[in-house]
Amino acid sequence: MISMRGVAKSFRGMPVLRNVTFDVNEGESVVLLGRSGSGKSVTLRNILGIIKPDQGKVIVDNQNVSELDLDELYPLRRKIGMLFQNAALWDSMNVYENVALALQHHAVVPRREIPARVKECLTLVGLGEDSIAKRMPSELSGGMKKRVGLARAIAVFPKYMLYDEPTTGLDPIMASIIDKLIRELNTSLKVTSLTITHDMNSAFTIADRIVMLHRGEIIFSGSVDEVKNSDDPVVHQFIHGDPDGPIKPIYTDHYEKRQAHQ
Ligand SMILES: Nc1ncnc2c1ncn2[C@@H]1O[C@H](COP(=O)(O)OP(=O)(O)O)[C@@H](O)[C@H]1O
Ligand SMILES: [Mg+2]
Repeated sequence: MISMRGVAKSFRGMPVLRNVTFDVNEGESVVLLGRSGSGKSVTLRNILGIIKPDQGKVIVDNQNVSELDLDELYPLRRKIGMLFQNAALWDSMNVYENVALALQHHAVVPRREIPARVKECLTLVGLGEDSIAKRMPSELSGGMKKRVGLARAIAVFPKYMLYDEPTTGLDPIMASIIDKLIRELNTSLKVTSLTITHDMNSAFTIADRIVMLHRGEIIFSGSVDEVKNSDDPVVHQFIHGDPDGPIKPIYTDHYEKRQAHQ
């Protein structure tokens, strides 16, 4: 289980997270929705222990992440697979080597079983052909890079998967293929998943439960149906992206602050 309790985080006096509380239960697929710049990636970095909260707690697998030293943090991070926004493949290694690298590093399967494990994971993401394994990242489309990133992340049998904007920059068809894949991995491999996105369609495909981050707080938590049926005007604006409504463009935040100081 991943659990954030009253997490606050500021950068140079500017609060990004004010009071973030939500859980991702075992086996669940939770989508964290928030607008650009709302602190979604900051939330993920708190979960990975890359940054520490100013206040509150982050609990992953019954461990308080912010209290762990590096020796304790590494074994915990090994349980967490991460798909980064840019897929983050090694440009000088081919597809096979990119996926095999994590397996060589973490020794989760005997060395002789690495080729079979790489093949298995590439097949899971629809890239099982031998010709693809030999390609360099520069010879892959954006969607294929994401899928290789996904194969690499799941190769080490993570208990948790974190996805940072997995479909940003992809065309709608490729985006929905990736969304479905994330959902399938959650159900077939029983990986507890947290996906961060600002894309409502992705959220509806991937999520058991959707939580919404707004102004540094979780303003809503509910199932896909609860989101669709909500009459909360903030939730409504999140879904439909209306320019008018209770959510104002980010710049009004600064405007309001200036007004408050006058
Ligand atoms: N290390 C940092 N130092 C200063 N500001 C940061 C840092 N990381 C994030 N921020 C700021 O926090 C805000 C939220 O960032 P982020 O979590 O990346 O947003 P998003 O929801 O788009 O992922 C942004 O205004 C960003 O500039
Ligand atoms: Mg981000």
